[in-house]
Amino acid sequence: MSKIHAVITGVGGYVPEYILDNQELSTMMDTSDEWITTRVGIKERRILKQENTGTSYMAVKAAENLFEKTGTKPEEIDLILVATSTPDYVFPSCASIIANKLGIKNALAFDLQAACSGFIVALTNAASFIESGRYKKVLVFGAEKMSSITNYEDRTTAPLFGDGAGVVLVEPTEEELGVMDSMIFTDGSGGKHLFQKAGGSVSPASHETVDRREHSVYQEGQVVFKHAVIGMAGVSEDIMKKNNLTSEDVNWLIPHQANLRIIDAVVNRTGVNYDRVIINIQKYGNTSAATIPICMWESEEKFKKGDNIILTSFGAGFTWGAVWLKWGY
Ligand code: UT7
Repeated sequence: MSKIHAVITGVGGYVPEYILDNQELSTMMDTSDEWITTRVGIKERRILKQENTGTSYMAVKAAENLFEKTGTKPEEIDLILVATSTPDYVFPSCASIIANKLGIKNALAFDLQAACSGFIVALTNAASFIESGRYKKVLVFGAEKMSSITNYEDRTTAPLFGDGAGVVLVEPTEEELGVMDSMIFTDGSGGKHLFQKAGGSVSPASHETVDRREHSVYQEGQVVFKHAVIGMAGVSEDIMKKNNLTSEDVNWLIPHQANLRIIDAVVNRTGVNYDRVIINIQKYGNTSAATIPICMWESEEKFKKGDNIILTSFGAGFTWGAVWLKWGY
């Protein structure tokens, strides 16, 4: 019997309508379009403004988009994995809320937390569940309302983040398509450089934690930058070497969208031609676990069956890695 592979058979996405551009940000804090553009590469980001809506709102819209495009029915889904650091609530899982809103009753549904690397971690898990034969139609989400954990008085982090959601449908195939290899790593000693100080079990919410603005992203930018470059560039090169892929063999490189200068470093190291690198950071900023599936959603038309695609990411933890997949349609 030939090996079962896990292949992406559909993509959906959603970004909120509201555009927060560098101009507006410059009226909120001491920053400028020039600084943000040259240091990070972001021009604008989307913000979910509707009251009483969270990450599941955007994830459901992304899934509805996928269902419509692929003709998939909610009742066919048997597994839902949601990569997010900004779930609607601490519990229950965002996955169970999404399942309910989509009318999915008979699926295993749970969240995975690997910060910005969440989508590649979730996709790798989905591949294992499918290769084992246990699940057949899996929704893998990367969805974030980063604005809910962004301190708009902190110019060192506020320009970076945006909101959005992407989702892929993953199914079994006996063709040589889908997730071919995955290399993902963790170095927990990096945790202190990028985290949310309060709201967890060590420092639950209190008046003091709110006053100290500890319910938002804390980041030591330069340290994270250095590790992100080393991690993403290194693992992208490693997964290509391990699988005998040259830069010419790689049809598309989809890097996590945190900083254009980090993306440039990955491009230089891998040697992949710039016009085969998917970049939308200028429009959406860093949507954490959602960057890669949103890139896929926007670029779906460019991909051809059998295309070699390298996904790579770096995030809090630290976590970082790369996935090699062959596009399925
Ligand atoms: O997605 C998860 C992983 N996250 C990342 O990969 C992010 C990695 N880090 C980065 O992308 C960059 O470190 C940042 C974009 C966060 C910061 O860029 P940088 O080039 O490392 O700037 P810096 O922190 O070294 O700051 C340089 C200067 C400082 O001023 P002085 O001390 O030189 O006078 C900052 O105070 O820029 C200043 N600065 C700003 N100026 C205008 C910092 N933020 C701003 C701002 N506008 N928004």
